[in-house]
Amino acid sequence: MLVTGKQILDHAHENGYAVGAFNVNNMEIVQAIIEAAEETKSPVILQASQGGLKYAGVEYIAEMAKVAARNASVPVAVHLDHGTDFTQIMQCIRNGFTSVMIDASKKPLEENIATTKKIVDIAHAVGVSVEAELGKIGGTEDDITVDEKDATFTDPDEAEKFVKETGVDYLAIAVGTAHGPYKGEPKLDFDRIKTIKERLNMPSVLHGSSGVPEESIKKAVSQGINKINIDTDIRMAFNKAVREFVAENPDVYDPRKILGPAREEMKKVIAEKMKMFGAAGKA
Ligand code: G3H
Ligand code: 13P
Ligand code: ZN
Ligand code: NA
Repeated sequence: MLVTGKQILDHAHENGYAVGAFNVNNMEIVQAIIEAAEETKSPVILQASQGGLKYAGVEYIAEMAKVAARNASVPVAVHLDHGTDFTQIMQCIRNGFTSVMIDASKKPLEENIATTKKIVDIAHAVGVSVEAELGKIGGTEDDITVDEKDATFTDPDEAEKFVKETGVDYLAIAVGTAHGPYKGEPKLDFDRIKTIKERLNMPSVLHGSSGVPEESIKKAVSQGINKINIDTDIRMAFNKAVREFVAENPDVYDPRKILGPAREEMKKVIAEKMKMFGAAGKA
């Protein structure tokens, strides 16, 4: 069933688990995610980045995700990932997304607050949930010094002010993860996750979660993370499966035969994540 992001994440927050938010840009990825969610009985979030929307078109993504959500027995939210453009955010809402992210994290605090609040006011008026970001989530910087940590990681005082003034539904926090693959092992600031949870008492979001070891993910969830974004690990499963298949079957030219096994491999990776996050059985 199609639900809002807030419905899914408030339940996760109240019950101490995390929901996977998986990036989609084509039909096979959508189906892999929904099949994994059904199989593990997990609530799930389908999210599209600006790049994903550019690739597939907002209407295609919205309709595909909504069909998948409506036909699913588990709760599914359709979410815009890292929205930075007012017009595009409005288009997503118009096309039936049930959650949007406004990412003004590169702007100074007051400007981030004002930009986020404007989206919250509009989205809430039509029943759409909102995620915002505070702090700077890494590219793939490896060894962050303590000074850099204080400058870039989410400050709990600022987070409290930010949520109070914007009314945002869930907050993406910078605690040591980075988008894309890691060179070394990421070091997460678990104490910061816990402090922010205690201060805000609302759902927290972890970005850049591909490549984070299982123990770190589980600890992050135990300290208060409720939405875990995964993109790269799905891309890698897709890439590996397609390459292996075409290498072993150089004469096959039917896209269904090439992409079918990739869909199956993505589904396996996604189902594992759902279990790891504690979402399995929560639908
Ligand atoms: O947050 C980043 C996501 O992995 C989306 O990446 O902009 O290449 O679609 P993308
Ligand atoms: P990864 O590609 O590291 O999984 O990050 C995904 C993400 O945070 C999308 O917003
Ligand atoms: Zn992200
Ligand atoms: Na990552």
